[in-house]
Amino acid sequence: MKLKYFSHSSFLITLDNGARILIDPFLDGNPTSPVGASDVEAEYILLTHGHGDHFGDTLSIAKRCDSLCICENELASYIAAKGAKAHPMHIGGAYSFDFGKIKLIQALHSSVTPDKECIGSATGIIIFIQDKIIYHMGDTGLFLDLKLIGELYSIDYLMVPIGDNFTMGIDDAARACSYIKPGCVIPMHYNTFDVIKANPGDFKKKVEKLDLNSQILQFGQEINL
Ligand code: NI
Ligand code: MN
Repeated sequence: MKLKYFSHSSFLITLDNGARILIDPFLDGNPTSPVGASDVEAEYILLTHGHGDHFGDTLSIAKRCDSLCICENELASYIAAKGAKAHPMHIGGAYSFDFGKIKLIQALHSSVTPDKECIGSATGIIIFIQDKIIYHMGDTGLFLDLKLIGELYSIDYLMVPIGDNFTMGIDDAARACSYIKPGCVIPMHYNTFDVIKANPGDFKKKVEKLDLNSQILQFGQEINL
């Protein structure tokens, strides 16, 4: 299984069987993305919430690739109304798809559909895939229930926002990691715009003081999980 980072909160997971799972595809309007929407293909698109820097190019990719979009209910209804395939879920619920299991959990943040018509919930996504558990936190502030997530699941890879202003900054993100105790921490949601400038090296040092591993992915880098 491979994990590719496009920058911001956007990742692509490619399974051993070739299935592709795209997360928060903010590509064409993203000044740091090494690829555009038309360069990417995916059978599944996972969305943490409806903000433009996460929803991004979802509709164009989903329509071109006939992708199934998996996300919180209000956003899924919007996607279906726009003519793409969507599977609605909500916080606390899990569902087994043919590629693996998805569980949505809370994120301390907001969400709105791209047409600004419907307010929904921002989420984090736990992905149970092959023999790994991957937790993409979406956009979130720090909250104590992350300790419960750490107790319930042995997270292998944690994607954690560190850019501050809209999400946790480095200090709160490191505290979140101490609650969850993942096998490997991957920082995200930084340096896309001036207002979320952060040094991932500073974050990595803080995480390593907690005796946790972290890996800084370059924009466009792909690793084996
Ligand atoms: Ni957001
Ligand atoms: Mn965001």
